[in-house]
Amino acid sequence: MLGIITGTRPEIIKMFPIMKQLEKEKIDYKYIHTGQHYDSRLSSRFFDELDIKYPDYSINLDKSNNYHRQIIEIKNKIGKILKNEKFSSVLVQGDTNSTLGAALAAYEANIFIYHVEAGLRCFDKYMQEEINRINVDRISDVLFAPTEDSLHNLVNENVKGKIFVVGNTIMDAIRITTNKHPGKMNGLEQVRSGLRINQNGHEHYVLITIHRAENLENKEFLFNLFTSLKTSGLSYVFPIHPHTLKQFKNYNMVYLLESGDIKVIPPTGYYEFLKLVKDADFVITDSGGLQEEITSDLINKYAIILRPNTERPESIRSGHSVLLKDFNIENLIAEIKTTYKKMKIKETQIFTPTSPYGSGDSSKQIVDIIKMLHSEHIPANK
Ligand code: UD1
Ligand code: UDP
Repeated sequence: MLGIITGTRPEIIKMFPIMKQLEKEKIDYKYIHTGQHYDSRLSSRFFDELDIKYPDYSINLDKSNNYHRQIIEIKNKIGKILKNEKFSSVLVQGDTNSTLGAALAAYEANIFIYHVEAGLRCFDKYMQEEINRINVDRISDVLFAPTEDSLHNLVNENVKGKIFVVGNTIMDAIRITTNKHPGKMNGLEQVRSGLRINQNGHEHYVLITIHRAENLENKEFLFNLFTSLKTSGLSYVFPIHPHTLKQFKNYNMVYLLESGDIKVIPPTGYYEFLKLVKDADFVITDSGGLQEEITSDLINKYAIILRPNTERPESIRSGHSVLLKDFNIENLIAEIKTTYKKMKIKETQIFTPTSPYGSGDSSKQIVDIIKMLHSEHIPANK
């Protein structure tokens, strides 16, 4: 049996095209969700919206655990599930604590590991995600690298598994979503009121998302960031991650979110979010997935990345993003002003016709490779 394991919002979104492809090819799999993201707005809403099956196994995690204890807890609990069913292989995605916990469980149980989105490196070993992805790559049997950059990182590290460059399944997720459900992409409707209107009668806003632990742990950074936004003269739409909201409450800084020019909304579904990105003037973010999504020809946006480094340099090279390496109010305001001017000129300009993350057929390539390596997954009637 093949196992698909997710734990957080981006893992569900990026695994969903693979699940759809497996179903299309009538290949059986069991789905395990670790419950790292337990809030329904970051988990079950996507099972419903993307029409994937509810997990065969859902885990309850101790919410008081630190990162290291969380990884061990995931490893132990997934380990028990892997013993119950006869799994021959598992797919894990990305770089979260769930990805590493699940991969360690499979490794201990001597189960074949496929790592989707392997080889990303920002070379910042203080970042938990960097530690997670390095370790998952080390113990995986097959590494699905999205780009040549990620392939080179893996080759440089002499990983033992087989490497295949297949693009990123996020491109498949965008393609499936925009092709199948264009009518559902009505994100702007709910946030329309209160946004600034230009001479053509169109709303203008900058989309902002922020959730990285490194940014949320820095009270001064958050204070300066939101003070800068308030004084920038632009409107913002801000779907807020529950972790981010918790930090604003902890810091007694919720008042910073109550400015008329910053429209704070709960985390949105996928259709809505893609529409919000597409309709934005530009994006300010520290999200990994969003750095990839903006390069899709179906989205094509520019982003200021609120990080000193990134494991997604392709999106900078393709002209879709810039790193705000040195964060301070002056730098941010200057970058926002430059970007705003650039976007006015570039309003209809395509940066690059194809995304560095592929053309949306990664899930098919992945399933073909799974069938090639594990012939037991090919249904008998095929
Ligand atoms: C995790 C991943 C990060 C990924 C992000 C996607 C790790 C170390 N981090 O960070 O790489 O980019 O998911 O969104 O794996 N919380 C809730 N509701 C939830 C889950 C978490 O309120 O459903 C709050 C809790 O206070 C929790 C805090 O967020 O302590 C951090 O949770 P964590 O699991 O580290 O998740 P993210 O910060 O979302
Ligand atoms: N996303 C969403 N709703 C939101 C915010 C993000 O559906 O309100 C999607 C987004 O399109 C992307 C994924 O969630 O596919 C990114 O998740 P996140 O930024 O939490 O994690 P990261 O990619 O940084 O690991």
